Amino acid sequence: MVPHDVKDESLAKAGVLRIEWAEKEMPVLAMIRERFEKEKPLKGVRIGACLHVTSETASLMKTLKAGGAEIALCASNPLSTQDDVAAALALEYGISTFAIKGEDRDTYYGHIMSVIDTHPQITMDDGADVVGLLHTERKDALQGVIGGTEETTTGVIRLKSMEQDGVLAYPIVAVNEAMTKHMFDNRYGTGQSTLDGVIRATNRMIAGKTVVIGGYGWCGRGVALRAKGHGADVVVLEVDPLRALEAIMDGYRVMPIAQAAPIGDIFITATGDIHVIRKEHFEVMKDGAIVANTGHFNVEIDIPALEALSTATRQVREFVQEYTMADGRNIYLLGEGRLINLAAAEGHPSSVMDMSFANQALASEFMVLNCKDLEKKVYDVPEAIDKEIARLKVESLGTAIDVLTPEQVEYLNSWHMGT
Ligand code: ADE
Repeated sequence: MVPHDVKDESLAKAGVLRIEWAEKEMPVLAMIRERFEKEKPLKGVRIGACLHVTSETASLMKTLKAGGAEIALCASNPLSTQDDVAAALALEYGISTFAIKGEDRDTYYGHIMSVIDTHPQITMDDGADVVGLLHTERKDALQGVIGGTEETTTGVIRLKSMEQDGVLAYPIVAVNEAMTKHMFDNRYGTGQSTLDGVIRATNRMIAGKTVVIGGYGWCGRGVALRAKGHGADVVVLEVDPLRALEAIMDGYRVMPIAQAAPIGDIFITATGDIHVIRKEHFEVMKDGAIVANTGHFNVEIDIPALEALSTATRQVREFVQEYTMADGRNIYLLGEGRLINLAAAEGHPSSVMDMSFANQALASEFMVLNCKDLEKKVYDVPEAIDKEIARLKVESLGTAIDVLTPEQVEYLNSWHMGT
């Protein structure tokens, strides 16, 4: 039995069913797994993964193992683990897994330490927590790391600032920057799963509500699109004029948070920044306002300010905490301000994770093949990998597309043809 710490080993069989269900919509990763099985490109490579422990992540772990990797996995968020999947990974698939849904801070970091204790050669992060610890408290384990991969926007921002400060100790591939990742996972994945999380937590009608969305990056765009699809009156908050303009032309109202706070029914942050919703905004919110976050960290909503303003608090449903203000208004915080799509729902559907995790698998192979030639920098996923994933996904969906004729190729390559 591999080392592990999971909530309940008896959930393993249920976890297998959940993983098999997810894999029905993960054909690209399955094709990579088949090749990995034969070629063993990761033979003997120790991978330390800190990802949301979901059925889709399980499929990635199976793929890396098929490629010959030795893996240790922990959660990248204390609330996102699917306990049945964690049990299945450890007991049915022989993958060292340290993750329990709802784990406290000490357990969360203890689990990351267990992964670092395996002295990974490749780190695979979602939010740069392993990289962060390797560069601070656990420098002892830095030697021997050949490279890493990073899944999410927030992690990439952190890594780029480490690179700029000249402290990044090894090369990292920013999986998030692949088109086949952020255009689909961040937009359609976050869009669907965030609404799913809000609805599962609250069972509230979205139609007719004013939904205020913080940030119009790829995630915010997706959340706005799906909220609009449900019939909401969507308000977007932005700091970037270009994105604000895009939101306006996409048909949304754009305004500052101070103006949106008193009119919103549901607030969803997706900015990647700190304290987007603060004390002065809670003070003017409507009675019954619902506040949720779908960004990586639980800092977008100033929860200590909400707690300080409240005279009483109680849990009224799973993932719904009621805060009563001195004037009698109630404000409802979902999922402790942690990413609501993974806290109260099941994260992005497997169809988009197929592409994100195909990028992870191929980025790991790329790292093994190229680490000697890479500098201590953050690299994009090579375009050829990105394009190939898109090609395989389109093909797996049963869609054929045109190819350029020789005449069209020539036209695109020439500069002297006009009208
Ligand atoms: N991030 C968002 N959704 C996810 C999922 N289903 N699995 C792993 N990471 C995710």
